[in-house]
Amino acid sequence: MTSSSRAAHDELHAPVLPGRGASDYERYLRTDELLSLQKPAEERVHHDELLFQTVHQSSELWLKLAASEVEEAAGALERDDRAGSIRLLRRAVLCLQYVTTQMEMLNQMSPWEYQQIRVVLGHGSGFDSPGFRRVAHVTQHIWKAFDRQLERAGLELTELYQRGREFEELYQLAELLTEWDERIWLWRFRHYAIVARALGEETVGTQGTPVQVLGKLIAQRQLPHLWETRSRLVELFDAERRAQSVGGTDPD
Ligand code: HEM
Repeated sequence: MTSSSRAAHDELHAPVLPGRGASDYERYLRTDELLSLQKPAEERVHHDELLFQTVHQSSELWLKLAASEVEEAAGALERDDRAGSIRLLRRAVLCLQYVTTQMEMLNQMSPWEYQQIRVVLGHGSGFDSPGFRRVAHVTQHIWKAFDRQLERAGLELTELYQRGREFEELYQLAELLTEWDERIWLWRFRHYAIVARALGEETVGTQGTPVQVLGKLIAQRQLPHLWETRSRLVELFDAERRAQSVGGTDPD
């Protein structure tokens, strides 16, 4: 390397951003702070604490992104930007998918050894997860924004499904919201199975909630209208078919 090319190389590799870290990569991503957020080895009561903290902390990050995208998607709907809202909701759904699949890493912990970690969690409980709370909050916000869109189009949800091809974007939105709600449901289901493997189903959690209560929460839907509508569609279709067959046998 000539001295001038070395100088150019050095210049390109020298950090220009403010902050801590030897490179701009470390400064921009604040890796010093990020990687100091997990207990150092000497403070861990068990080796698996790093795994446990990594899964939880990264879940909070994905949930933060998911909630931020849904909030933005609700704002887009309020400005009648349905296509923009669809684009953001797709991302948010993917975030929930990641949160759900990465949780499987926790099954790598031994249920006996996990007990050592459990005792250092204090009263820490997933009910206080800022990410999950935010997800619940923004879900209601986007539902209201979607409902207003339906109102303005003069449509009931069942009608939107019956005439989906005429209202393509609204139909896509309804389906994405269904997928969003389904992802929350699937997360709960997966979480319950993981908790059952780590603690059993007869145990009481760190804030006094029996694990069985988590099982019951699986039946809860954040956006129940979307699911009720499906049952209504079956009823409507069957009623129409019955009416047609009665009409068909009618001698008149
Ligand atoms: C071995 C792993 C895990 C165990 C044993 C566990 C255990 C529990 C228990 C017992 C509860 C009931 C509340 C309580 O008394 O604490 C709960 C709730 C909860 N946990 Fe976990 N959890 C685990 C992993 C996770 C992960 C990775 C997350 C990701 C953010 C999470 C988020 C939550 C949430 C959001 C709730 C409230 C549940 C709901 O509203 O449906 N948990 N967990």
